[in-house]
Amino acid sequence: LNYNVTRDRRFILEILFNGLRRLEYRGYDSAGISIDSSSPSFLSADPNGQFADSAPPPLVFRQEGNIESLVKSVYKDVASTELNLEEPFSVHAGLAHTRWATHGEPSPKNSHPQTSGAGNEFLVVHNGIITNYEVLKETLIRHGFNFESDTDTEVIPKLAKYVFDKANEEGDQTVTFSQVVLEVMRHLEGAYALIFKSRHYPNELIACKRGSPLLLGVKELSEDTSSGASFLDLKFISENGRPKELFLSSDASAVVEHTKKVLVIEDGEVVHLKDGGVSILKFENDKGKHGSALSRPSSVQRALSFLEMEVEQINKGKYDHYMQKEIHEQPESLTTTMRGRLIRGGSCKAKTVLLGGLKDHIKTIRRSRRIVFIGCGTSYNAALAARPIIEELSGVPVTMEIASDLVDRQGPIYREDTAVFVSQSGETADTLLALEYALENGALCVGITNTVGSAIARNTHCGIHINAGCEIGVASTKAYTSQIVVMAMLALAIGDDAISSQARREAIIDGLFDLPNKVREALKLDQEMKDLAKLLIAEQSLLVFGRGYNFATALEGALKVKEVSLMHSEGILAGEMKHGPLALVDENLPIIVIATRDACFSKQQSVIQQLHARKGRLIVMCSKGDAASVCPGESCRVIEVPQVEDCLQPVVNIIPLQLLAYHLTVLRGHNVDQPRNLAKSVTTQ
Ligand code: G6P
Repeated sequence: LNYNVTRDRRFILEILFNGLRRLEYRGYDSAGISIDSSSPSFLSADPNGQFADSAPPPLVFRQEGNIESLVKSVYKDVASTELNLEEPFSVHAGLAHTRWATHGEPSPKNSHPQTSGAGNEFLVVHNGIITNYEVLKETLIRHGFNFESDTDTEVIPKLAKYVFDKANEEGDQTVTFSQVVLEVMRHLEGAYALIFKSRHYPNELIACKRGSPLLLGVKELSEDTSSGASFLDLKFISENGRPKELFLSSDASAVVEHTKKVLVIEDGEVVHLKDGGVSILKFENDKGKHGSALSRPSSVQRALSFLEMEVEQINKGKYDHYMQKEIHEQPESLTTTMRGRLIRGGSCKAKTVLLGGLKDHIKTIRRSRRIVFIGCGTSYNAALAARPIIEELSGVPVTMEIASDLVDRQGPIYREDTAVFVSQSGETADTLLALEYALENGALCVGITNTVGSAIARNTHCGIHINAGCEIGVASTKAYTSQIVVMAMLALAIGDDAISSQARREAIIDGLFDLPNKVREALKLDQEMKDLAKLLIAEQSLLVFGRGYNFATALEGALKVKEVSLMHSEGILAGEMKHGPLALVDENLPIIVIATRDACFSKQQSVIQQLHARKGRLIVMCSKGDAASVCPGESCRVIEVPQVEDCLQPVVNIIPLQLLAYHLTVLRGHNVDQPRNLAKSVTTQ
């Protein structure tokens, strides 16, 4: 929403489109926008700005496909309707949304904004899922509403219209936009971040959330030099009438190019933007329980915070794709992850690790009966890679849980457990539900995320940020390696009081210091991996065998290949080879075996022999200089990687597999950064 600053229609469209481009990695099957059809002078024909029946309906454009198809169709429509792109607006409220389909196939009618019906009286964009939408829909149909989409979202604008019409029928002509939205919220169950726009309340936007992320960005276009304050509070914002642009977004990356001053909106808060001011209402006794009755709202005053993110982080720079950029920036992202956390030499005699976010809880973690790692996808794999070193240095039993499975089983979680939640985005719905469950069961909850201010960072008792920088490629790469490093540091911190393992810990710390260099060396395999990708381009399937520290590498390497290149790929625990997978082996199916030096090396050598005996088509990943000792015959291809401390080897070993997945995808002609059907951050169940 821009206020007291003149922007033309083209400028406003471009702000919305650019925001969508930044968010495209969150969902990319369809998109939509809404803009005002007329300038404010026309809209303010009604002096109260309410019931502006004279206000023309907001315009809505929706399109299947990616953002660029929306952009094209909007400009085409604008031209055909002769809307003036130069028309100035000194106040304008726009909406935009990019979708990852849950209910209803990708199509214009299922895209957002969803509307209350003809006349676009109420418009809504939504992230999340409304679980009781069927009941609401039936009720609204009984009240005469016609539904046109297959979405759960459509009930929301229709409910808003129902509430608004009812208030008017009952003679309440002063019902405010927030009152309408509060009433709508009372009926919604599920998870959501919502933004409302209405023809009845031109120049206003309302946002609210429960469970899905949302933030407000504030760009002051003439800075107040008198206050000298770098942190502004909301009262201050709403009281001054200086020109400004206000942004609501599910993700900081859409806002950072405009402003770094943001407010992370919390569950139960309702944000009202009007006349350049912001007011926030909070339901005090709303504990985020779906469907609970809402108490009387109270007003919120909170300080803005500053985004650490830089705009350059969300550009591709010299690279063709985000995934490629993020693979290649791992030496730097790992350095940032470790910065200030490893201590070697100086006045401190021992080499040690400092994790500020855990300092008050490390003793409790050490004394816990069990450590349970919980995550999804790549984050789960990272925890699996770190499991052996945590077990070794802590002596505490470690179990692994895929978040959705823990919730499905209602698996046992006890007060004496430490539950560690690993999530790049910090917003994955499955992981958040598991967190809610672990909190209810009284476990100490630790978050490991890449997103400051995310739901997991906020709702856990303590945690560690991985500081890998913004990750945009849907296939996680640099976050994976930073997560492993953070968990290795966690193992060091838990085991810090054991004298018997001091030498081992110091060797790992030395290894961590040198890790960015070793990763840089592994990245030199780029061309080799491209050549390998050319050989594998037409294959149907690829197996990856690993064990010990590198079972996770096998799973993660296979996940990378399948999610972006769309080639079937499975990670297999080499110890299980004889119990099934061996049946697949023939001279055609390519198999990558990870056989770098560690305690499992000789076992992997015999796996290679057994595969070779069955004419397996082998590609062996081994430590530098080991090619001759691992290769059973000339037909075997080798990937030689630099050797590091065994527990850190997964960080190096995943690099060639990330590169392979990347090149396979490009060569097979698929979209690297937006793999079919996937989304970066899955904020729905
Ligand atoms: C989605 C993404 C994966 C990611 C997983 C967990 O499935 O496509 O790349 O690993 O979610 O996400 P999180 O943000 O919790 O790490």
